[in-house]
Amino acid sequence: MKPVTLSTIREMKRRGEKITCLTAYDYSFASLLDRAGIDMVMVGDSLGMVMQGHDSTLPVSVADMVYHSRCVARGVSRALLIVDMPFMSYQQSPQHAMASAGRLMQKGGAQVVKLEGGEPMAETVRFLVGRGIPVCAHLGLTPQSVHQLGGYRVQGRETTTAERIRRDAKLLQEAGASLLVLEAVPSELAKTITAELEIPTIGIGAGKDCDGQVLVLQDMLGIYPRPSPKFSKNFMQGTADIEAAVKAYIAAVKSGSFPGPEHSFHSV
Ligand code: KIV
Repeated sequence: MKPVTLSTIREMKRRGEKITCLTAYDYSFASLLDRAGIDMVMVGDSLGMVMQGHDSTLPVSVADMVYHSRCVARGVSRALLIVDMPFMSYQQSPQHAMASAGRLMQKGGAQVVKLEGGEPMAETVRFLVGRGIPVCAHLGLTPQSVHQLGGYRVQGRETTTAERIRRDAKLLQEAGASLLVLEAVPSELAKTITAELEIPTIGIGAGKDCDGQVLVLQDMLGIYPRPSPKFSKNFMQGTADIEAAVKAYIAAVKSGSFPGPEHSFHSV
């Protein structure tokens, strides 16, 4: 099967085909997702919570990301592989970000690196992209800033924060980001940003109008022992096995039936 590249993903946005993405952290699940036909696999730093049992993503290191990414890369032959840059691996300076991204690509097999943050990160995005490293940006609920945000809360409900997120999205696109993850933002805001940007938006708790969707694998399989966020759905319910659940997720995203209103947030 032809590998999915960033050009494939851009073309999918252009023709209105929804983009599917799930997280994975190991070889077996990555192979299963790839076989089921997922478009993108993300090695999220959510592994700090769902694989390592921490309360946040903050303790995750570049070495952890390289290890899991390398395992996932062995299982993926078609899907595009996106890997998170963990907390404190890119915030210090563009040069520091470059060194971390280099490790994720050379040792971890990442094809795109993802980092969190708006305007303050634009210079770093430009620096990486200018040196041949594709970047996925991440706005809205940015879990590495959980303490600054005062918890895992919906972002952009008020006009001022919504406008900031909208402006940041444009700045990150201008800086060269290839993709934008929008997490836990009102559907109306995600719809506006998706229409304004040329690059694809990938939503998680951002409503049905994003160009694509991503979920944490453990949440959509219903195997994370702590409560899952409202925006997630257990796709194991009503399906025979894990591969069937993944295929049901892919079909639901492609048809636009997931996320439904019960998985979405609204502006005040
Ligand atoms: O860490 C992660 O898994 C993520 C996504 C779910 C967007 O950032």
